[in-house]
Amino acid sequence: MEETIKKLFAPGKGILAADESTHTIEKRFATLGLTSTPELNKKYREMLFNTSGIENYLGGVILFDESVRQNLHNILQEKDIVPGIKVDGGLESFNGSEEQITKGLDGLDTRLKEYSVLGLKFTKWRAAVRISDIFPTDAFLEEDLNRMAQFAKISQITGFTPIVEPEVQLDGNHTTTRCAEVSVKVCRILFEKLNIAGIDLKNLILKTNMVLPGKDSGVKAAPLEVAEVTLRSLKQSVPPEVGGIVFLSGGQTPDEATNNLNEIVKRRGDCPWPLSFSFSRALQEETMRQWSGKDENIEYAQNTFLDRLIKVSKARKGEL
Ligand code: G3H
Repeated sequence: MEETIKKLFAPGKGILAADESTHTIEKRFATLGLTSTPELNKKYREMLFNTSGIENYLGGVILFDESVRQNLHNILQEKDIVPGIKVDGGLESFNGSEEQITKGLDGLDTRLKEYSVLGLKFTKWRAAVRISDIFPTDAFLEEDLNRMAQFAKISQITGFTPIVEPEVQLDGNHTTTRCAEVSVKVCRILFEKLNIAGIDLKNLILKTNMVLPGKDSGVKAAPLEVAEVTLRSLKQSVPPEVGGIVFLSGGQTPDEATNNLNEIVKRRGDCPWPLSFSFSRALQEETMRQWSGKDENIEYAQNTFLDRLIKVSKARKGEL
């Protein structure tokens, strides 16, 4: 597990989240007029992973089960990029309410043993925390973060480095201050639960949202403000022992996510964790659009993917 953390946080490197579930990749492809099928998903992801030079900027890639069944992790292993796997089972209504809780603990240990044989080294579990006037509720956070801690425990017992991803979502019209309050609360509860579960924090990665105003608030925060409030929130709620922190992009544009990461790293001061990226949309959006399902666009799309990775890698060093 220590080796995995070292590789994932190697200087200038980060993690590509290519773990879109069947439903999510269907939605992403549909915006381009494409119909997702296992074959087309494979073609697209092969294009990403076969891009020459990505190993200089990626320490790891998070996969979805379908890609592992298609042996795509082999391409990554040949490049010495660590393959990981999303193991939560997506979201379901919490007690019939609008809050969406993460499921997937059933049979998790059996699945992990199988992934271990295939050479996968780390796992990811995402919780989606929605902000509104009434959400998140305490009962929801209690149950959702408890499940996340159980995931981390099962992962560590089976030899995987867990990534816990309590994503406070961008949707809504909330202020930056409200996002900070909720982000701090969520992390405090999560680390309480991880502590009770006896998790080895140095072999755990936190994947977190940047602290931002809601998408529908009509406000855009400048990178300086995002960096200061995000770092302050993390220092208030994340124990120093944690192995590392990676940021999700959460629906920001590729440039917004890249510039905000750059500013966070530049202003990190004495914060105790390595900081890096684990973007899905901010790394893939431009590339997916340029590819649009056509073989003749592959080279162009791969160049774009590499260009974005180079920028995000610079941002990860605060050198943009
Ligand atoms: O679970 C979500 C992904 O791991 C991160 O995706 O960068 O598009 O927010 P994103």
